[in-house]
Amino acid sequence: MILAPSILTADFLRLGEIIETINRSEADWLHLDVMDGVFVPNLSFGFPVLSRVAKVVKKPMDAHLMIVEPQKFITQFRDLGVGILSVHYEACTHLNGTIVKIKEAGMKAGVALNPHTPVELLNDIIDELDMVLIMAVNPGFGGQKFIHRAVDKVHRLKAMIEQRNLKTLIEVDGGINLETGRKMADAGADVLVAGNAVFKAENPEEMIRLMKRELYQ
Ligand code: DX5
Ligand code: ZN
Repeated sequence: MILAPSILTADFLRLGEIIETINRSEADWLHLDVMDGVFVPNLSFGFPVLSRVAKVVKKPMDAHLMIVEPQKFITQFRDLGVGILSVHYEACTHLNGTIVKIKEAGMKAGVALNPHTPVELLNDIIDELDMVLIMAVNPGFGGQKFIHRAVDKVHRLKAMIEQRNLKTLIEVDGGINLETGRKMADAGADVLVAGNAVFKAENPEEMIRLMKRELYQ
């Protein structure tokens, strides 16, 4: 079971300290939310920031691309040292080709689904995927309200994965805290992303410890 804090709503003036906190903590991965202002109505950070983060982080990087034409940047993310790269189903006309390219570049490949996109649309590609990222909010911003419908999607996806005997991981992103995280862990999630729950907490390192203890048994 994996916990992946997202730095999206952390204080970027203190980015170095934040990465050190994550390094010290029991977090498993670092979740990086990349936005282009086109696929989602927000901008986050790009390569100038990511290359600095990549130099100091000691946890595997899990990049979530909320951008159009993500295939253009695959080798740049590989060169940064990203371990797992997720692209949005809704942003890829040639999803199979993009997944093949991510894997050829030596990274694990994930597909993210917006709240309205049914997991059944992955029927003909799930065998190729290392991970499916279920969005439990509309992507673009941290701190939004959890969409409960996503719990059922995780159940259905888990059944699909087990039926085919696959090892595909299920990641859930958006509105995850101790309560919603419990529901997702019970539904079959393998990876939980947490932004606000960690970085708006008084002591982020302690919250990571608590989430690991409460959600991962
Ligand atoms: C939303 C991002 C999330 C976000 C999660 O577009 O993909 O990773 O940072 O933040 P919280 O946990 O605050 O919903
Ligand atoms: Zn994300």
